[in-house]
Amino acid sequence: MAYPTPDSLRSRLKRPISSITAYDYPAARLCDEAGVQMILVGDSLGMMVAGMEDTTEVTLDQMIYHTEVVRRGVKSAVLVSDLPINTYRSPEETVVNATRLMEAGADAVKLEGGFRQLEKIEALVEAGIACCAHLGMLPQRVREEGGYKKKGKKDEEAESLSAAAMALEQTGAFAIVLESMVADVATKITKKLSIPTIGIGAGDYCDGQIRVLHDVIGGYPWFVPPFAKVYGNVAETTSSSVKQYIRDIKAALQDD
Ligand code: KIV
Repeated sequence: MAYPTPDSLRSRLKRPISSITAYDYPAARLCDEAGVQMILVGDSLGMMVAGMEDTTEVTLDQMIYHTEVVRRGVKSAVLVSDLPINTYRSPEETVVNATRLMEAGADAVKLEGGFRQLEKIEALVEAGIACCAHLGMLPQRVREEGGYKKKGKKDEEAESLSAAAMALEQTGAFAIVLESMVADVATKITKKLSIPTIGIGAGDYCDGQIRVLHDVIGGYPWFVPPFAKVYGNVAETTSSSVKQYIRDIKAALQDD
């Protein structure tokens, strides 16, 4: 089966690129109809949907299910799905598991990391599967790193991120997410690359931005990352609507 090529996906992402996560049909359809250019079935669904502590317990089967339901809601946006942790340990494993996400409806897959992922991206390109890279803070390594830490503070780290970004582009990634990175470093990487950079907590000068849907709509009040701008209050609307519903049930019984 022929999947969308990196060039065809890139031509659908116009600067400034707007991207957001979605994990279910109504959210995907609403985001797509709102005009967002790229929808990510992120493994952040582990926290946002499943109440896990981080993304390190998300499975491929969960990603496949959410990719299928999101696909039904997406008509225009580029649909990217995350390869979860421990599903891309070798080039062969990467292609087998990415193929399952593509069969579930993804236009491309995303995996985390720099130099150590080059052979896997090469294998994906060879298999005709477009790949979005992800550099900077890598949530799948949060336990090894002991928390969510901003990247690129030291010169050596900044240079290594920049070299990795160049290598990812040369290997065939069609775009790169830059997460939690010093803004200057993200800006320099953006200027050097010809593929688009999509930032989250990486300053304003990437080619586009990506956010977790629940942060944008105010749907997950228990944790909001410092860089998130919250535009709605879905948590409050849900809570007050359900409370009103409960009051109505009680009132109806009293009227009997
Ligand atoms: O899983 C996710 O939501 C992500 C974004 C934060 C980029 O990878």
